[in-house]
Order: sequence, then structure tokens, then C-alpha cells
Amino acid sequence: MKIGILISGRGSNLKALINACEEPGFRGHIALVISNRPGAAGLDIAKAAGIPTLVIDHKEFTTRETFDAELDRALTKAGVELVCNAGFMRILTDGFVEKWRDRQLNIHPSLLPAFKGLHVHQRALDAGVRITGCTVHFVRPEMDEGPIVAQAAVPVLPGDTAETLAARILEAEHKLYPLALRLVVEGRARVVGEHVVLNDVDGTDIPAPLFMPTLQ
Ligand code: GAR
Repeated sequence: MKIGILISGRGSNLKALINACEEPGFRGHIALVISNRPGAAGLDIAKAAGIPTLVIDHKEFTTRETFDAELDRALTKAGVELVCNAGFMRILTDGFVEKWRDRQLNIHPSLLPAFKGLHVHQRALDAGVRITGCTVHFVRPEMDEGPIVAQAAVPVLPGDTAETLAARILEAEHKLYPLALRLVVEGRARVVGEHVVLNDVDGTDIPAPLFMPTLQ
């Protein structure tokens, strides 16, 4: 399966996905990495791995529709079958999301549907939750919504700051996203009635979402 990855910055999840795709027998291949920010560090990670990169700078477009149309054109031209948002910090238009319905994944650093949007780690601390985590889900037009493929739980520890909590969750993200991607590329995660049903290797249904306490 040809994968296109959308990034905006650091690219640590991109790196985790690149590593996963390099594993023997992994059925996904990253055909293109697109950044909406010219200076995104993730572009260098992709280039070092020999993956084609493209900058589509949102500032050069007057509307979200024209930006998304360019994104769609580039992904289609590269033969992409599955889009993975990996720290892609742009809101996509309904038209783009519908075009890629059930063919676009996102990772978010909270246990959705809690803490959608920005500043999630500080908001989790402010709310006093004891457990938070990360979620990989299929993308829907509403921000940080959509059928959940996999989640990992991460504890909030005494003395945590937004930074220490973010770092702990990020470690879980780097395990969760490759795992979720593997389920999708192997056709073992399918959307049924806006929930994801996971099939075991022998074809039997297993409960979704996959729950992986701290992914030890
Ligand atoms: C990650 O923590 C990811 O979950 C988050 O941005 C970070 C990107 O880091 N994404 C969102 O908040 C999307 N709503 P990375 O560039 O190192 O992968």
C-alpha cells in the first residue's frame, strides 16, 4: 500500500512510521512526505531515508480549498492510497476529508474524545486526570474525531509539567502509530458503522479499539 505522510514540524512520528515501513514484511511503502511548512525538520528525516518530499506552503494559497486541492493533486499523482497525518497542524476542508474517507489516519496526543484540539497536555494537567494517552483514528471533518483504530494509556505522574507529560505520551505515540498503521495496511482494521472492527490474523473479529496500557 502506498502511503503519503503529511507533516508540519519535528517529524518524530514520521520517523517512527519510516522505521515501521522498513521492517521486513511490512506491507506499506511511503511514497511521499508533504509539509505545509518549508522549514519543517521532518523534511530532513524523510530526505535522509530517501523518501520524496514536497513543500506545499499554505501561506501561498488564499483559500483552504485551493491549498487542499494542491495537496490532493500531489497525493494522487504519487499514487498514494492511504494518508497519514503525523503532526500535521492544518484543518482540512470537508471536501478533502470526504475524498480520503477511511483512507486517512491521524494521531492525537490524548485519549479521544477527551482533549481535542491544542494545548492538550496542559489541559490534561489542569483537569487533574490521572491517565491520558494517545489515539490513532480515521479522519472525519470534525477536528480530532473519527473511528478509533488504537489507543495507548499513559499515566500522569506527580510533578509532571506539560513538557514531561508530552514526552511520555510521545514515546507511546511512536509505538502506537506503527501498530495502527500495520493493522490498516494489512486490512485488519475496517470501519463498520463509524467504529473500527479489528480482525485477528485468522480473520476473527477482536474488540476495538485496541487498548495498550503504556505499551510496555
Ligand atoms: C505529536 O505529539 C502529535 O500527536 C501531535 O503533534 C505532535 C507532532 O510531533 N498532533 C496533534 O496534536 C494533532 N492534533 P512530531 O512532529 O514529532 O510527530
